[in-house]
Amino acid sequence: MTTVVTVVGARPQFIKAAPVSRALRARATEVLVHTGQHYDAAMSDVFFAELDLPQPDVNLGIGSGPHGRQTGAMLTAIEAVLVETRPDWLMVYGDTNSTLAGALAAVKLGIPVAHVEAGLRSFNWAMPEEHNRRLTDHCASLLFCPTGTAVANLRREGIDDGVHLIGDVMFDAVRHFGERAAAPGRRRALGIDSGPYALLTVHRPANADDPRRLRAILDGAARLDMPVVFPVHPRTRAALAALDHPAVHLDTPTDDPAARQSGDANRPIRCRLPVGYLDMLALESNARMILTDSGGVQKEAYFCGVPCVTLRAETEWVETLVDGWNVLADADPDRIVAAAQRPKPSARPAPVFGDGHAAVRIVDALLGAPLAAR
Ligand code: UD1
Ligand code: UDP
Repeated sequence: MTTVVTVVGARPQFIKAAPVSRALRARATEVLVHTGQHYDAAMSDVFFAELDLPQPDVNLGIGSGPHGRQTGAMLTAIEAVLVETRPDWLMVYGDTNSTLAGALAAVKLGIPVAHVEAGLRSFNWAMPEEHNRRLTDHCASLLFCPTGTAVANLRREGIDDGVHLIGDVMFDAVRHFGERAAAPGRRRALGIDSGPYALLTVHRPANADDPRRLRAILDGAARLDMPVVFPVHPRTRAALAALDHPAVHLDTPTDDPAARQSGDANRPIRCRLPVGYLDMLALESNARMILTDSGGVQKEAYFCGVPCVTLRAETEWVETLVDGWNVLADADPDRIVAAAQRPKPSARPAPVFGDGHAAVRIVDALLGAPLAAR
């Protein structure tokens, strides 16, 4: 039986791996390796519990750190797993440091690499994700692209072999879990059944680690004519406390006194701990609009038919911009407010992210492909 080592480590990778792991385990042996890049219960455990994802076979426990140290520690530890396991394939997702470490460890051992969500490009070389995705694509023997744009990006870099247009595994996940997320009672438990609200997420270093940009985003969000629900990524939590923005109610329970802030619960931007995937789908699908710098959240807004304002100057997911479902507002308060006030598009979101069966196509290609590293 074909053996596949899957390397995951960050929140969106647990979500992407869930549908693929289910399809894979029906027909092959999977060894699931968690690098430990994300480790808080709300950033990791909750997804394994909710998404029927098996517990990792190995947790490397690498944790946080500067890019070089974190990626290097992962590379060393993944290499040891691969030497012991000798899998037929190494599978990685997306564009995090865990993705790059897995791809590098495998390619140097002559183990073929399969990359899910290949071909995405922001053309912004200041983003750590752009380094990770470009380098991973150039290590991969199988490149699973969610969109035609991704296929074209790879072709421009001279990569044609092993490229498969299969649709988006995050759309598979929404199709599979959407009903559970819509269960009665969830809206009340989340406190979102009493009127319109906007949903906000911010975690890109360019926004979270730059007080000027973070303040500008909050200034824009505070001017909306509805409350803003803000599940806060841990990278952003301390920055918010330090900023002490007058519109932000930071009631996140924490043991860190530096991150504690008393606040008036009537302030428009209401922070909370990161939520699980099912709660997040409920928050997204019931929101009047979504403001985000997340890749996954931009797509989910589109899947749910909720207008999105992207807090960046560019996006990898250019399909979401068509018909005005998504608008780039960067970190500019006036552009954020203008984008949030635009009318909801009348056209339905186009089915450009596949048919919800991307995971099965991945497994078909993986089991049918010749076993050779690039
Ligand atoms: C990482 C990915 C990013 C992805 C995001 C998904 C890289 C370079 N970045 O960014 O592409 O969009 O995950 O969420 O791989 N922290 C905690 N608890 C945790 C995890 C992180 O407190 O469980 C804090 C630590 O202070 C850490 C910081 O968050 O230093 C950043 O974590 P890290 O994994 O380095 O990057 P992300 O911003 O999460
Ligand atoms: N997500 C979640 N809880 C949250 C915020 C996000 O479950 O509090 C989910 C979201 O629905 C999406 C994924 O995490 O599926 C996106 O991850 P993130 O924004 O951290 O990273 P990115 O997609 O930008 O790499």
